[in-house]
Amino acid sequence: MADLWQSAMDHAVAIARKAGETIREALLNDRKVTTKSSSVDLVTQTDQKVEKMIIQSVKERFPAHRFIGEESVAAGEASNLTTAPTWIIDPIDGTTNFVHAFPFVAVSIGFAVNSQVEFGVVYSCLEDKMYTARRGKGAFCNGEPLQVSDQTDVKQSIIATEFGSSRDPEVVENIFSSLRKILCIPVHGVRGAGTAAVNMCLVASGSVEAYYEIGIHVWDVAAGSLIVTEAGGVLMDVEGGEFDLMSRRVVAANNKTIAERIVKEIAAFQPERDDHS
Ligand code: IPD
Repeated sequence: MADLWQSAMDHAVAIARKAGETIREALLNDRKVTTKSSSVDLVTQTDQKVEKMIIQSVKERFPAHRFIGEESVAAGEASNLTTAPTWIIDPIDGTTNFVHAFPFVAVSIGFAVNSQVEFGVVYSCLEDKMYTARRGKGAFCNGEPLQVSDQTDVKQSIIATEFGSSRDPEVVENIFSSLRKILCIPVHGVRGAGTAAVNMCLVASGSVEAYYEIGIHVWDVAAGSLIVTEAGGVLMDVEGGEFDLMSRRVVAANNKTIAERIVKEIAAFQPERDDHS
């Protein structure tokens, strides 16, 4: 049977690659920065330009589709995930990295229908790595199949996480409390690429066993979530329940054993959901 969404996925890969070229050029010439929710929540003209470019090109090809885009939401648009075909876009995941030329920057494009992610595309454009997953058809990096690590012992694991962009003392305290406990399990190490999407692709690639974060947004994780599960991994809420795309909380791991072990050490809190109205 023909794959209903294959042409949309092909379009996503092509436009992510084009967006990556724009980002690479801008990295050399144009990194003017402004701030959003706080002095460390950064945005550049390139984020806005790339998001517009992606949305424009998708609208021309798929006029009935909807969008949730990081910069459109920052400009006041709603971020409600309906049953309609919806493109969930982070034009630059790792904006802080981009601003500082720290070499992990990704274009993240997820596509959901009936609130279920059908395909995910993460283009880590400075590494030229194109991660893709189509529901039920596996996950790939530059065309090579991805498989999560088979490690079940958390003490032999590397865990990825991020500090996020909140500097609220209570939030920072929670982040450090979780980090201290996880580090002292002890695990082999804790890492963070500075982009949620790439962290998830590192889980899918078997380079780290798990990634967790509270405070991410749907555009940071929509594409990566499918790449993880299609590579054989699992998703969970930070309190152990079912992963919820709009909840701003994620644990992505190679297997349930590691995910549940990490969950035990996380000081959970609930930021305002992406679909608050
Ligand atoms: C951010 C990155 C970062 C994560 C933040 C995200 P952005 O996305 O994914 O790693 O810690 O929670 O908001 O702002 O660079 O698109």
